[in-house]
Amino acid sequence: MQNEIKEVLISKEQIDQKCQEIGKQLTEEYDNKFPLAIGVLKGALPFMSDVCRHIETHIEMDFMDVSSYGNEMRSSGEVKIVKDLNTQVEGRDLLIIEDIIDSGLTLRYLVDLFKYRKARSIKIVTLLDKPAGRTADIKADLVGFEVPNEFVVGYGLDYQEKYRNLPYIGILKPEVYGG
Ligand code: XMP
Ligand code: MG
Repeated sequence: MQNEIKEVLISKEQIDQKCQEIGKQLTEEYDNKFPLAIGVLKGALPFMSDVCRHIETHIEMDFMDVSSYGNEMRSSGEVKIVKDLNTQVEGRDLLIIEDIIDSGLTLRYLVDLFKYRKARSIKIVTLLDKPAGRTADIKADLVGFEVPNEFVVGYGLDYQEKYRNLPYIGILKPEVYGG
């Protein structure tokens, strides 16, 4: 698996450090507010797991699985709910946890959905931001790292369902896409 990676963009140590920093900020932000942390499956799973361990106040956790029609490397903006929340969001402070914002279409859809459901507040934390890909009007409140306009894998992010279990963020060798 490791020999299919061309370049490590963000190391495990950098990710660990960033999760600590973000966890500390979220602790201050949400102290005594009991927010609902919403992980967007499947990519956000490692980040949510690590960052939540650095939040030192009560939170509730739930998950949403959405898929986008269209090809697998880019979001089309037509979002389908594969698994909805089990929790009512009306009146709640929501913290959406994402792996990456690329076009922003997925998050635009989710934010609009949660507004419609009358959330009290909605914030977004994303491990990665790829600003060059943006087409929707959406901005994260907290960003771990900016990445260049390349397809990245690891730490939750996949190519054809592989590489999610890599402990770092990397770029695949071009021949991997060929095969
Ligand atoms: P949008 O475009 O809606 O996309 O912001 C968000 C979702 O698209 C996937 N995505 C990626 N997945 N490497 C990946 O493994 C990437 O470089 C990448 N860019 C976008 C991802 O599922 C994300 O949640
Ligand atoms: Mg995702």
